[in-house]
Amino acid sequence: MRFYVNIDHVATVRQARRTDEPDPVRAAVLAELGGADGITVHLREDRRHIQDRDVELLLQTVRTGVNLELAAASDILELACRWRPMQATLVPEKREEITTEGGLDLQSPESRGRVETALARLAEAGVRTSLFIDPEEGAVRVAAEMGADAVELHTGEYANARPEMRGREIERLQTAASLARKLGLAVHAGHGLTYENVAPVAAIPELEELNIGHSVVSRAIFTGMEAAVREMAERIRRARRAT
Ligand code: PXP
Repeated sequence: MRFYVNIDHVATVRQARRTDEPDPVRAAVLAELGGADGITVHLREDRRHIQDRDVELLLQTVRTGVNLELAAASDILELACRWRPMQATLVPEKREEITTEGGLDLQSPESRGRVETALARLAEAGVRTSLFIDPEEGAVRVAAEMGADAVELHTGEYANARPEMRGREIERLQTAASLARKLGLAVHAGHGLTYENVAPVAAIPELEELNIGHSVVSRAIFTGMEAAVREMAERIRRARRAT
């Protein structure tokens, strides 16, 4: 299991004052020292947190690997193909949302066409591809047909579910993960995961990668990034060992 730390919200704090601190590159170095297997950043179209320069510096600095989240929009795709991060995760993006709200729409022909074009361009640039989708059979099947390397299953509904509904959400994630693996996709997961709720997701055997941001950055404010990452990595390891 790989644990990727999303450091977008380090940049959110910096952008609150449009100054030069806290520095996402420094956060990435400390996250790696704490045991992160990779660094994730989302270059949003409105550049509300991570900036182009951050991605360029991270690509030069990060020793593990950079997973770049991006919308299937031509200007951002052009940057991704030039930068060639280790992995690109295509996500849906709406300007007014606070965070990514749902998985990619792979049903409507228009959205599907955009994702297909993006996958082809990224593959041509030699970038490993992942599609952020809801844990649903239809989406998993389309992602496999499209030839993505991986899917990232959206764990937001699990994270937001009332305690009595969480078991059902884990079953949905488990079913989608098994199908994805059967169809030859690598399986990732993320969104809304915290120190308290990560264990049942981390225990899903097919999962190869978790992307966690807000909870880790929040804890890092009090404990420092290295300790925050180390603690989450330990919880993930414990959950895997228990299965
Ligand atoms: N995975 C994807 C595709 C995301 O868009 C995000 C949020 O940027 C995350 C994972 C991380 O979510 P969180 O910050 O809630 O841990």
